[in-house]
Amino acid sequence: MKIKPVKNSRLAEVDYTNLGFGDYFSDHMVTCEFSDGAWGEPSIVPFSSIELSPAALALHYGQTVFEGLKAFRGTVDHKVRLFRVDRNAARITVSCTRLCIPAPDESLVIESIKQLVMLDQDWAPSRRGEALYVRPVLIATEPHLAVRPASQYRLLIFTSPVCEYFAQAKSPLYLKAEERYTRAPHGGTGYAKTASNYSVTLRPMNDSVEDGFDQILWLDGQEHRYVEEAGQMNMFFRLGDSVVTPDLSGTILPGVTRESVLTLLADMGVTATERRLSMDELFQAQNEGELYEAFGAGTASVVVPIGRIRYQDDDLCFPEDQPGNLCPKLYDMILGIQHGELEDRHSWMIALE
Ligand code: COI
Repeated sequence: MKIKPVKNSRLAEVDYTNLGFGDYFSDHMVTCEFSDGAWGEPSIVPFSSIELSPAALALHYGQTVFEGLKAFRGTVDHKVRLFRVDRNAARITVSCTRLCIPAPDESLVIESIKQLVMLDQDWAPSRRGEALYVRPVLIATEPHLAVRPASQYRLLIFTSPVCEYFAQAKSPLYLKAEERYTRAPHGGTGYAKTASNYSVTLRPMNDSVEDGFDQILWLDGQEHRYVEEAGQMNMFFRLGDSVVTPDLSGTILPGVTRESVLTLLADMGVTATERRLSMDELFQAQNEGELYEAFGAGTASVVVPIGRIRYQDDDLCFPEDQPGNLCPKLYDMILGIQHGELEDRHSWMIALE
């Protein structure tokens, strides 16, 4: 791969004692173009603004796809490894198919990410939970005004040293189960990682933060009764003697951390089911003393405890620090694997060489 390195690194400008999420961008980025019916060769260049026609189709009709994955520095050997990059590459293909974007070869995406992270590995933080976040994005660059798939695209991949998404949260999150707005209808793009799934959440999210909530719990678009996801996270509930997470019905994102949590729960011998889960069922379980725990799972947020969920005029409450709580155990297991402290039984960590 062609590499044009920076003349002067910006690494010294990063305040590693106070990393936010997405405040810094490392020195290089991958760029690759699609035209004349084929993807060209990717190359690595200094991270910079890009030139784009004001008529680029992505800007008008939202023909874009993105991803989020992380590279971690080993606590013991200090080597940087990628977490499950193959799963994110596979999801790019699924998202591209939904958005009518010609999907680049998954091997091209994986190799590009490996090369980029290898080059900028000094940017990977060393504190537990912090990571070098990798953001691939594909955009329709063809200048045109007709509503149709573009004939030109660009793949960009850049990285950002980050802390956990909810690192600033002082206590378990307070969610509002959203009854008015809908994130994704059946037959829509809910399962694809595309910009519009996030832009539709901005107004409701702003309103709910003004009302004192940390995040929204999205419900199904038809009846606003069934749990979907929390925007940046898939949702898990421990009720009775098992864990339930909404099934992948096409309206929620098939999270890589969701998939990893299900695998780890199976390793722990915990029964976990993927199925439809209504707010009524959760309130009934609470009334019967059978609702114990809720947590969210996502790449940016890892796993985070949920403290309360407001639905209509009632709250579901999840007491903190219960001895049986799975969220802290899962958090330690996931970070332990990611930072090379625990055995990587499922071969999730991918070396850079
Ligand atoms: C991720 O977890 O990588 C996400 O996509 C969340 C991001 C939108 C902040």
